[in-house]
Amino acid sequence: MIENLIDAIAKELDGDLSDVNDLNKLQEKKAKYLGKKGPLTQAMADMKNQTPEGKKTLGMRINECKVYMEKKFEEKKRQIEEKQLEAKLKKEKIDVTLPGLKLQEGSIHPLYQTIMDLEDLYISMGYTIAEGPEIETDENCFEKLNLPKGHPARDMQDTFYINPELLLRSQTSPVQVRTMIEEKGKPFKIVCPGKVYRRDQDDATHSHQFMQFEGLVLGPNITLADLKGALLEMARCMFDKDRNIRLRPSFFPFTEPSVEVDVSCGICGGKGCPTCKGSGWIEVLGAGMVNNNVLRMSGYNPDEIQGFAFGIGVERITMLKYKIDDIRNFYLNDVRFLSQFKEVK
Ligand code: DAH
Repeated sequence: MIENLIDAIAKELDGDLSDVNDLNKLQEKKAKYLGKKGPLTQAMADMKNQTPEGKKTLGMRINECKVYMEKKFEEKKRQIEEKQLEAKLKKEKIDVTLPGLKLQEGSIHPLYQTIMDLEDLYISMGYTIAEGPEIETDENCFEKLNLPKGHPARDMQDTFYINPELLLRSQTSPVQVRTMIEEKGKPFKIVCPGKVYRRDQDDATHSHQFMQFEGLVLGPNITLADLKGALLEMARCMFDKDRNIRLRPSFFPFTEPSVEVDVSCGICGGKGCPTCKGSGWIEVLGAGMVNNNVLRMSGYNPDEIQGFAFGIGVERITMLKYKIDDIRNFYLNDVRFLSQFKEVK
């Protein structure tokens, strides 16, 4: 009688589980069949009416039934979970052909682009890059560049002094001095990009902070012709390969002779136009043969080693190259200006 009841429970369970398809429902059913008030507990209660032999068989039957039901619940649970996963995968499928989100791209700052172009060019000609601090000593920035205290040429550069010995460098030329002292009389070729500071009122062509790109080559038998070659390469790299350069006599305390370097005008090809003010030439930088005093002060013997130096205004040639008419554009951080420069090499 009791055994029939147990068979009936197993059958009922099969029917009862067939339309269960979520885990909560399944849990409810589990409580109904296997919980404290379930049919097996009732069957257990009948134990006390059994003979010792009957107790043994009934105990085994109840246990078999329990194992059977637990197995059924386990199976059902796995089925439900599989179905749910399948549905989820179907719903969440990724369309790999959809276009991605477009990230806003940055661009290279035009001044940095110019510096990278110049560095690449001079590295290809065997130069190395040297750097120096923006806070310099008066000694490196002026004294050792043949500008002693009271020298009239110091007026050319209105300098931000921190104290009588320290200043914000007004030119990258002190990197020449630092490298010469380090190299102890040996030949070398360097270029030095960097920021410089002057007490200028900011306007379309002046900025209290700007960038220079300095060059220095020291070695035996270096001549002005070598300087001309190094700068002609620069003009053709920065502008175009048809450009020419010319040297005009000038004055810098640290070079002798000193020259001002012009590049032929790219707008009129040298015939003369408003951009070059009719001359066919545009002034781009200062240069010269290193002054013997400068060599001696930093431990070089001018009878054995000579050299040339140049100082390029990075803003100036960038403005010429990209036809920018106001130097302040470089420092306003206006993305409408900056995003025009996408060129990277
Ligand atoms: N230092 C100069 C300036 O700031 C530029 C310059 C001219 C640098 C001639 C040089 C040079 O190395 O030889 O105006």
